[in-house]
Amino acid sequence: MSLNSIPVIAIDGPSASGKGTIAQLVAKTLGFHYLDSGALYRLVALKALQTNVNPKDENKLVEIALNLDVSFEEEEIFLENNRVTEDIRTEECGIMASQLASYPRVREALITRQRAFRQSPGLVADGRDMGSVIFPDAILKVFLTASSEVRAERRYKQLIEKGINANIRDLQKDIQKRDERDSNRSVAPLRQNTDARLLDTTSLSILQAQNSVLEWYREYCANVRV
Ligand code: CDP
Repeated sequence: MSLNSIPVIAIDGPSASGKGTIAQLVAKTLGFHYLDSGALYRLVALKALQTNVNPKDENKLVEIALNLDVSFEEEEIFLENNRVTEDIRTEECGIMASQLASYPRVREALITRQRAFRQSPGLVADGRDMGSVIFPDAILKVFLTASSEVRAERRYKQLIEKGINANIRDLQKDIQKRDERDSNRSVAPLRQNTDARLLDTTSLSILQAQNSVLEWYREYCANVRV
């Protein structure tokens, strides 16, 4: 199977929209690989925070992105052999990730790494630019969103479950700020592209959202066979 015939489902959307949860479930159901592209930006952020790199030092951040020694094993993430699965989920890391994600050269430095996840029998990738930049030939592109109130609640629950302290009002403010930064940057801004299908999960359960994506995928498969 040539690389480009390996199907990709791209799920993009704003912070805490639930795209990670849905993408993982869809990948599991189809037996596909999974790419959490945001984790890569968060890993660059974590390494920068650990080594006191100034968030404005683009050259250093590019260097970190190019040399990132990271491995994804099942649900766990390792940075230089240290388990950092929870460490990268803090709001501090998320905010720093969103800042450094606005540098075109940092984004470029992560492209090859992201495309390497495209392996048989298929890939579900979630992020902000999966359908627009990284996998423009994805067979299905979904823009998954929800109201900022619902997203703040979801993020709150997620953090508390992980034992990370959180305040719902601060989270909502952070989410709005992050939306603004992610939507207004000049490179790979967060927006629904014309070829992406909108999935608003404000009043959908996880199962309903997952089923919508699977139905669209099956529709695609049925059409290809005709
Ligand atoms: O979990 P959450 O949706 O808040 O964020 P994430 O997907 O873990 O990504 C963290 C940050 O990385 C986002 O705020 C984006 O600015 C950035 N990012 C990006 O620019 N492009 C991607 N493909 C994925 C994440």
